[in-house]
Amino acid sequence: MAATTTPTGATVARAARLGGALRLPGDKSISHRALMLALLANGTSRITGAGDGADVRSTAGIVEGLGAAVERAEGAVGNVDYIVRSGGASDIRQPNLPLDCGNSGTTMRLFAGILAGKPVRAILDGDASLRRRPMARIVEPLRAMGAYLEGMAGERPPLIVVGTEELLAITWETPVPSAQVKSSILLAGLAAKGTTRVREAVATRDHTERLLRARGVAVRTTAGDGAAGAVVEVDGGQAIAARDEQVPGDASAAAFWLVAGAIHPDADVTLGGVGVNPTRRAIIDILARMGASIEVRTDGGPPADVGEPIADLRVRSSDLRAVELEPAETAAAIDEIPVLCLAATQARGRSVIRGAGELRHKESDRIAGIVAGLGALGARIDAVGDDIVIEGPSALRGSVVDSLGDHRLALTFAVAALVAEGATTILDADCVAISYPTFFADLERIQS
Ligand code: S3P
Repeated sequence: MAATTTPTGATVARAARLGGALRLPGDKSISHRALMLALLANGTSRITGAGDGADVRSTAGIVEGLGAAVERAEGAVGNVDYIVRSGGASDIRQPNLPLDCGNSGTTMRLFAGILAGKPVRAILDGDASLRRRPMARIVEPLRAMGAYLEGMAGERPPLIVVGTEELLAITWETPVPSAQVKSSILLAGLAAKGTTRVREAVATRDHTERLLRARGVAVRTTAGDGAAGAVVEVDGGQAIAARDEQVPGDASAAAFWLVAGAIHPDADVTLGGVGVNPTRRAIIDILARMGASIEVRTDGGPPADVGEPIADLRVRSSDLRAVELEPAETAAAIDEIPVLCLAATQARGRSVIRGAGELRHKESDRIAGIVAGLGALGARIDAVGDDIVIEGPSALRGSVVDSLGDHRLALTFAVAALVAEGATTILDADCVAISYPTFFADLERIQS
């Protein structure tokens, strides 16, 4: 048994070999949006293969709290199939309790956009981590559209939203690259009078646009999807169609196994049905640039039914070299930066990840957390302003590391443990259930 988990921690030993095939949790970003759009659609939507992490459950709970009937059935390998029956956007009901977003920033920011255009008063709240996260980035544009929003000191949650049916379209330039901000404004824009435009200096994940289009909503992107400087625009008053859709495997969950396979000396792992949307696949391309042996096979599995490309990924033991990332690339791989730092500890040379400041505002201060955790395992890693600098390769040794209750840090440290000498204990490791509840079971399956 190479991993022992208790409510307070997990102890993971070095693996002799990593091999086999895995199916991943349904993509978290897509699962949130599929559920939210099912609420806004009049009729029945079946969502197959949604992720069953705590974050997506928070979204499903709020969809129900706003009046839709949500039925869940266990899907394949720890995923869930949802049937959502809704009377549509005009049927959203006044919630009689605060809406609990748990640990999920996506849930809070996107629902704030949805509720801004509805005649309801709502409180969006979350756990201690979410209560520390900045909301001014959505409060300001939604106020500019005419909704009333107020957070606690410094616009932190809980967040009061008093929506209005008189919402007005805006043109908004997002100061930080954020798909959550873009999506919040676009979802509000659907209920606004006029054409809402969001200009992004750095293009972010475009799942909201793709899923809206799949439900019959015209969303225009100038300069093409995925291009820097793109403007995304939507006209208010469009109907959202109910439909069935299948969620692809989570590219961000895949990243942990891609790095595990690349840094482990005896690894050959295949990941089936992974979403490889151009705005999410940066980690694959960055690892390939570092010399990782990753095969992307696009002929495997049925096409995902949400306008999202999928592929099977095969990763094998690799000899990695250092990499330098510019801020736009860092933004494109923002959720994968912690595990990319781990890859850099095993790569020859000095890696520099520039412009990573947004990581301080995630589920934890991920710059502090990754520097402390990988440092405790023997890596040479430092933060220099908003940049992360790693000198590799270093031999990692098992130790006690603190996940800070942050799922992506816990997952990164568990992967580090697979190549570290001796055992590694990860504190608060059960937080992996935020995005990847079956992670430790998958770990058992692919190692020997
Ligand atoms: C997400 C967008 C990103 C990402 C988060 C999920 C989304 O956040 O870090 O895990 O689903 O839109 P930001 O929009 O804050 O960059």
